[in-house]
Formats: sequence, C-alpha cells, structure tokens
Amino acid sequence: MSKTVILAYSGGLDTSVCVKWLADRGWRVVAFMANVGQGDPSSAAIRRAKAAGAAQVTVRDVRREFLTEYCWPALKADAVYEGQYLLATALSRPLIAKHLVDVAHRAGARAIAHGCTGKGNDQVRFEVTSRILDPSLEILAPVREWEFRSREQEIEYALKHRIPIDVSKRSPYSIDQNLWGTSIESGVLENPWTEPPADTFRSIRAPQRAAAKAATVVVGFTRGVPTHLNGRRLGEIALVERLNALGAAHAVGRSDVIESRVVGIKSREVYEAPAGTILLTAHQELERLVCDRELLKFKQEVAITYAHLIYAGLWFTPLKKALDAFVNATQQRATGEVRLKLYKGSCQVVGRRSRYGLYRERLATYSAQDDFDQRTARDFIKLYGLAYEGSG
Ligand code: ARG
Repeated sequence: MSKTVILAYSGGLDTSVCVKWLADRGWRVVAFMANVGQGDPSSAAIRRAKAAGAAQVTVRDVRREFLTEYCWPALKADAVYEGQYLLATALSRPLIAKHLVDVAHRAGARAIAHGCTGKGNDQVRFEVTSRILDPSLEILAPVREWEFRSREQEIEYALKHRIPIDVSKRSPYSIDQNLWGTSIESGVLENPWTEPPADTFRSIRAPQRAAAKAATVVVGFTRGVPTHLNGRRLGEIALVERLNALGAAHAVGRSDVIESRVVGIKSREVYEAPAGTILLTAHQELERLVCDRELLKFKQEVAITYAHLIYAGLWFTPLKKALDAFVNATQQRATGEVRLKLYKGSCQVVGRRSRYGLYRERLATYSAQDDFDQRTARDFIKLYGLAYEGSG
C-alpha cells in the first residue's frame, strides 16, 4: 500500500497548508473536492492544491446525491438540531467522508485527512464515518497537530512555500456552504451578545431590505420528498436552488444561535437556510394534515433523536437506519401540496391539501352541513376522565 493520503480539500488556507504539510512528511497527497453546491470548485483552487504539492486533484459533483441521500431523509424526519439548526454542514460530512474512503480504496491509499480543528464537530463526523466504513484507514488531522498558532503564521508559511492564496479575499468568518445552507462562525460572532453585522450573511437579505411584495409559492411533495414548485415538476437541484433564491430575496431562513457541540463547547453560530426553512415549514404542515395525532407526536420525538444522530456524526449507524425505516413508513401518505407566503422574513403556511388528508370539513364545520353528533361527546368525556375523578 502506497503512502498516499486522500485529503478533504476546500481550496481555503487551512487545507492548502495541509497539502504542503503532509507532502513535507512524505505523503503523496490526493486533494479531494466535493461539489455540494458551495459554488463550483474553481480552477484557482485546483491550481492552488497543485502548487501546494498535491500529486493529484479529484473533483466529484455530489450535489444530487447530497440532496436525495442526505437532505431528503433529514427533511422527511423533520431533523432540526436544538430547535434551530437545519444541519447543512453536518449532513455534508458523512457524504464527503464516504467519498474520501471510496477515493482511498480506488487509489490504494493508506490514509485520509481533513483540515478540521480539534474543537469542532466536523472532525468527529469525518473520523467516525471513516472508521465505520473502513477501520483500517489511517486518519490524519494536521490542524490538530501542527505548529502554527495563528492564521498569520499559516499565511506566512503559505507565502514562503509559494502557495497562491488570496489573502485579500479572506472573510472575517469561518464559512461552510452547500445547497442545504450556510454555516458562519468566529470573528466578531464569538461574542454572543454582538449582533451579527450586515456582512455576516452570504445570501439572505435583511428583512428591511427584502422584496416589498410578498411571494406565494406552492410546494408539492411525493411521499415526503419535494417534487413540485407551483405545480411544475422540478429536479432536486433546480428545486432547491429556486427556493434558495426566493427565500433569500424575502429574508427567509436566517438564524443566530448558541449551540452545544459534541466536544462539550457551547458555540455561537449564524445559519442561512432559505430552501430548507421553506421546505421544512411546508413538510411539517403536510404531516399535520395527513398523520394522526399519535403518529405525529411520536414522529416529533423521533425527529429530535434523528437530528442528534446527524449532528453527532452517527449517520451510518444501526439506529439511524432503523429510524429511516420508521420515517419512510410515515411518509407513504405525505403526498400533497402546501401553499406558503414569504414576506420580509416570515414564511407562513396559507393553504394545504392532500388526497390523504385527515381533515373532514363536514366534521369540523360549525355550519348547517355538520355531520358530527355532538351528543356523543358527553359519554366520551365521562370515560376519558374516569381514572382521575376525585383525585384532585
Ligand atoms: N456548528 C456547525 C456544525 O457543527 C457548523 C460548522 C461549520 N463549520 C465550519 N467549518 N465553518 O455543524
């Protein structure tokens, strides 16, 4: 087995320095770039990897796989971590790790590597996934080990070794972006009392700068998966891109949260997830229409665990698989449409319909068309409360 390592390469400063650092230690570095919708890996990034000493750069477009195999299951499960985070970064990690392992196998490589720090969740997700899929692969995490103590030192090292980094383009934040959302952290955001400055957000407009007129959109689902917009069938990438643009124009999908990391640290995170927010709002409403009360309640409990598994890097685990079986069973009736209105930051449901809907207008109505015999309620309530009579 050759001393080859497959590095999860983003094109940024950290992973570019990782290439050189690994090459200096005798590794043949294959830089792997996954296109998850962060913007196509640019030729500049590929050149940078080569200049830093990568023997090879491998790029894979995994956008479709990301949506259908990771985001849709999360949407079907209504997975939201700690009530706020739609898990865009967390969902991409097992996918990227799976591809790292696959590229390693094809290249006969001995190791995989990532550019995560020792403080975050991403190291956990990459490494746990890699170990699940192939425990014989070595895992290298240069950022946890190397001698650099600041970004300035890294930049100095990069310049010294002629790695073409564009220091002027550097954002004051750490940003991770894909089709499902953007995660923004560090810089001035590290003070949790400081309001995110206007330059924090990548795509979503501030409510006061949002479009003046509300937009209405109808999202159509087929067994829990979004398939239509305004009655037209769309491919998954087009559908998500369309909703990302629409939500961003109407200031929908921003959040600013304190979050509990796997390693025990609390962190302040700013998220943007326009399409995810619209789809989740619509999906939850469709379920309220087609699922009975007990199913809905249990499914909400499952959603918390499902989100936790995604967050904690436990995607390829037996519990996650078992929960998928449950969730998929619940989605057999999740076919229908939800109409939403987007306006200056709000995303409100204004209509819903499904051939599997449990809503019966003739039971709910207070008009003369009423089919419900109100007298039956009297004995029902008597039995319903029987166990508690006189116990107060
Ligand atoms: N806190 C989020 C998570 O753990 C986002 C991490 C973002 N990563 C980054 N490199 N900026 O999923």
